[in-house]
Amino acid sequence: MSLSPAVADSSARSQLKKRFDVDRVRLDFPALAQRVHGKPLVYLDNAATSQKPRAVLEAMEHFYTADCSNIHRGVHELSERATAAYEKARGVVRRFINAGVDQEIIFVRGATEAINLVAATYGRRNVQAGDEILLTALEHHSNIVPWQILAEEKGARIRVAPINDAGEVRMDEFAAMLTPRVKLVSTAHVSNALGTVVPVRQMIELSHRQGIPVLVDGAQAVPHLKVDVRALDADFYAFSAHKVYGPTGFGVLYGKRALLEAMPPYQGGGDMISSVSFEKTTYNVLPYKFEAGTPHIAGAIGLAAALDYVTGLGQEAVEEHERGLLEYGTGLLTAIPGLRLIGTAREKAGVLSFVLEGIHPHDAGTILDQEGIAVRTGHHCAQPVMDRYGIPATTRASLALYNTRAEMEALAAGIRKVQEVFAL
Ligand SMILES: Cc1ncc(COP(=O)(O)O)c(C=O)c1O
Repeated sequence: MSLSPAVADSSARSQLKKRFDVDRVRLDFPALAQRVHGKPLVYLDNAATSQKPRAVLEAMEHFYTADCSNIHRGVHELSERATAAYEKARGVVRRFINAGVDQEIIFVRGATEAINLVAATYGRRNVQAGDEILLTALEHHSNIVPWQILAEEKGARIRVAPINDAGEVRMDEFAAMLTPRVKLVSTAHVSNALGTVVPVRQMIELSHRQGIPVLVDGAQAVPHLKVDVRALDADFYAFSAHKVYGPTGFGVLYGKRALLEAMPPYQGGGDMISSVSFEKTTYNVLPYKFEAGTPHIAGAIGLAAALDYVTGLGQEAVEEHERGLLEYGTGLLTAIPGLRLIGTAREKAGVLSFVLEGIHPHDAGTILDQEGIAVRTGHHCAQPVMDRYGIPATTRASLALYNTRAEMEALAAGIRKVQEVFAL
């Protein structure tokens, strides 16, 4: 007997649910077991950086204890092992974001450096006086300041597609701003301050119709959503390892090969050249043209271990778990009188940003910390977002795959406690 599609679908879904056992997953993250101020740690600062699973810690330790050597130039065994691990990591990243070839994966220090790289190379070459760079109103400073530096140097102009009160990009306004003066669109995939999932596929399609390339800042998307750079047709895609359970100080710039080939190098130094004389230097092929100097080898190895870890859990299962958690947390928080959620987009991922009537976010964060609850307070490097809502700061709880419904309840209880303290 064969199952009807509906029954088969629901049984597949329940298997998916069964497979994702958050209590078991938590055991993979040693940092989560600690107590803070005598309370079990509730780590909800994942948009700033996430905790690392043992698989990442062990992969990096293995490199430093057994394979530590410089890459690409050595003929000895350790150097060959290190080079193989570093280049294998590139393949892991390529598959994870479904890029076409390894040469399109440039290893950098993080999303910030990836964006600066594009601004300093593609931007310098292609943006001239009077041109425009189009951003959105929900960008992180990392996706604003590099373009301002470029615009200042070139006499170009930054334009900003507005957001509505829910924190969604106004697509009508965005489309209207795509004039021939725009030489590049750069947008977040997910907002770190609001949690909005930006419709980047649609924005890329609209931009490409006008022949405008698009950079997507995926720093907050890669930890939460399955990203397929080819399905998106993104020209550039940037993300950081440390937000997706990998090490700090490491990240990725994906770029379409033809664009990367045409771009001048970013920094000069070892490894990015094929020959050097005082008269003339010729540059190395992709991706090495953009990787000057000894890279963060252990960083690449750690990132690959992190991505393998997430793949092993099943990205769909992770997404479903996080979606349920966000819905549950949203329900609990919106039931608290005097709490206002900042960022209520229909499509959201990973972030619960809020303000409490009459209570400064820093005070809220400090009291929550006493309860063992780690959240972030401030402008979240997105001051224009705060200005848009007319507030100086928010308290932000941000989720990861290891968070639980009990932690959402602890957060809600912690917030009520904050309110009690201030009611006195
Ligand atoms: C949306 C967004 N873009 C860029 C960045 C910068 O990432 P990094 O500091 O790892 O370079 C962040 C970090 O919070 C972010 O949230």
